[in-house]
Amino acid sequence: MEKRFICRNVLVTGASSGIGRASALRFAREGANVALVARNRERLSAVAEEVRALGVRGEVYLADTSNAPEIYAAADAALADFGSLHAVHCNAGIYLRRPAKDLTTADISRIMDTNFYGTLNTIYAVLPYMLRRGEGSIVTTVSMDGKKGVPPDAAYVAAKFALNGFLQVLRQELRGTGVHIGAVFPSRTDTPQIAHVACPAVTPKADPAVVAKAVADCVYYRRREMLVPWLPCKLLVLADAVSPALGDFLVRQLHLSGTQTGDPVV
Ligand SMILES: NC(=O)c1ccc[n+]([C@@H]2O[C@H](COP(=O)([O-])OP(=O)(O)OC[C@H]3O[C@@H](n4cnc5c(N)ncnc54)[C@H](OP(=O)(O)O)[C@@H]3O)[C@@H](O)[C@H]2O)c1
Repeated sequence: MEKRFICRNVLVTGASSGIGRASALRFAREGANVALVARNRERLSAVAEEVRALGVRGEVYLADTSNAPEIYAAADAALADFGSLHAVHCNAGIYLRRPAKDLTTADISRIMDTNFYGTLNTIYAVLPYMLRRGEGSIVTTVSMDGKKGVPPDAAYVAAKFALNGFLQVLRQELRGTGVHIGAVFPSRTDTPQIAHVACPAVTPKADPAVVAKAVADCVYYRRREMLVPWLPCKLLVLADAVSPALGDFLVRQLHLSGTQTGDPVV
């Protein structure tokens, strides 16, 4: 594997599981030191061990990203320990599968707190530093749910659409500053977050390692957006832009909602 991030320092939120774990390991394999952020010490420490086994630094910073002082303190501590931060992967997120008619505003706030405000907290924790340096890359795991609403994910979709809109504006405002803003839009991915959702063979869950490669490519090539997997996601976005009725039809025909097979594990 090419080592594109030797002597680079990368902070990953939600690094204790799924896509964040895969991203931390991907950056480490490519030579980066990794600052790992999440709430669960045990799981995060286990991933840090895996990172260190690849011959780079892997340090643990416990923080709830929806709590601004916690993630600010984590980012400051990582900066102090590593001396610099070249890239941040804003990835921490939670999922709620519940029909819109059954949602409470408390449900929606909980999802917004982590998926929207938690991401913004992470961005604002590092942005002044990157702007002062005139370099850096901030890449966020959004979701294809931030491109096309899929039932029964209304609360999650709302947070991811909000994130997509915010990031579109931020990247344009930061043009010319040296700070790159990227967004990765994975379709369903095989992680604990959706272990209770079965997907049909026509739209299988992606491997988190494939998403992690897209994140690393997004940082390296300073891409605006990465869809994972690209072709089916692009076709869905184009179909929905031409006709929302066609977009809805594809969601139904391809069973993009999947089927709930049990209780959520996270
Ligand atoms: N799986 C999919 O199908 C899919 C598809 C598209 C996008 N995504 C997005 O990808 C990202 C990662 O999800 P995943 O599928 O890898 O899920 P996952 O395996 O459940 O991992 C979620 C990670 O986020 C952390 N986390 C959750 N809330 C947090 C908070 N408030 N503060 C800090 N860390 C927090 C969790 O660690 P702790 O519990 O230890 O804090 C964990 O490390 C999420 O943004 C998700 O929405 C997932």
